[in-house]
Amino acid sequence: MRILFLNGPNLNLLGEREPEVYGRTTLADIEGRVKEKAVKSGCSVEFRQSNLEGELVTWIQQAPGKFDVIVLNAAAYTHTSVALRDAIAATKVPTIEIHLSNVHAREEFRHKSLIAPVCRGQICGFGAESYILGLQAALTLTDVKTGK
Ligand code: DQA
Repeated sequence: MRILFLNGPNLNLLGEREPEVYGRTTLADIEGRVKEKAVKSGCSVEFRQSNLEGELVTWIQQAPGKFDVIVLNAAAYTHTSVALRDAIAATKVPTIEIHLSNVHAREEFRHKSLIAPVCRGQICGFGAESYILGLQAALTLTDVKTGK
């Protein structure tokens, strides 16, 4: 199984950005931890981050045939981006929404996810561990494994 981890705006600042909300682990550290687990599970993982909405849309569009599952932390675009939602719906690659923080326990504008209805599920609130849980969720998508 080939899994694409996509990260949206400001996640390149993890470790120094609002550590009381997002913790002190950098995105590079998270990538290392996810890849370590992925190797043990026999799947391949690619990690990308962009601050640009259009670049994330392009990567989602290019995923079919290259990746079986997308694990997406769309960051602030979660709450605003019709374009990301349409890209997920269009490409039909099973997508798992993840967040470090519990978006439902924060400001009201973070309670709404425009991408949730087109994702297979949502994981939030477990800090860097949300990424490991995202990997595990990807591995449990039996329809991807069986092609049904
Ligand atoms: C986030 C939550 C979003 O609301 C926020 O805009 C982010 C990070 C998270 O991982 O907790 O940038 O996606």
